[in-house]
Amino acid sequence: MTLRLGDTAPDFEADTTQGKISFHQWLGDSWGILFSHPKDFTPVCTTELGYVGKLLPEFAKRNVKVIGLSVDPITSHGGWVKDIEETQHTKVGFPIIADADRKVANLYGMMHPAHDEVYTVRTVFVIDPKKKVRLMITYPQTTGRNFDEILRVVDSMQLTDKFSVATPVNWKQGDDVIIVPSVTDEVAKTKFPKGWKTLKPYLRLTPQPNK
Ligand code: BEZ
Repeated sequence: MTLRLGDTAPDFEADTTQGKISFHQWLGDSWGILFSHPKDFTPVCTTELGYVGKLLPEFAKRNVKVIGLSVDPITSHGGWVKDIEETQHTKVGFPIIADADRKVANLYGMMHPAHDEVYTVRTVFVIDPKKKVRLMITYPQTTGRNFDEILRVVDSMQLTDKFSVATPVNWKQGDDVIIVPSVTDEVAKTKFPKGWKTLKPYLRLTPQPNK
């Protein structure tokens, strides 16, 4: 099955470094980030997992739960977590799925055999509280991901859900946002009391709500 944006994130049961989980139940009402690593004891992943450990308070502020996945058994994950904590000077603090049989990796299309027959590529799925897939990215094994960017996209999506706004190129917290075209000027008057600038009828900029 090929997952697409808007699909329901497949549910699964798995062993993790924090015990057995049933994915949807574990997510509860939170947003979720599921991200895969090619293999335990690999250098790029070690830096990524450490950085995500440091970002956990930021994810928690946004009601986002984070879970990693690697196609190695739980016995191996334990030793790797110790290495990550030692070298990256942080607690990992979130579960890592032990997916030795690649059940979850296959369910989410994390195996790209033409790239590597045995190990997962680096995928990230952002899942909203309705369990819908809202973002998918796929990186090669040798490029570490930018988790600040993932945080930025979560901020953008949460603004969209709450205020009917979109975010322009290279948007960052505090910058002006775009009123989505489906909101008429009439409705915008009540939704955006700070007003807006109309550059074109389809391009209306307003100060970021709730700033
Ligand atoms: C890594 O995750 O660090 C990695 C994986 C495969 C090849 C090179 C690096």
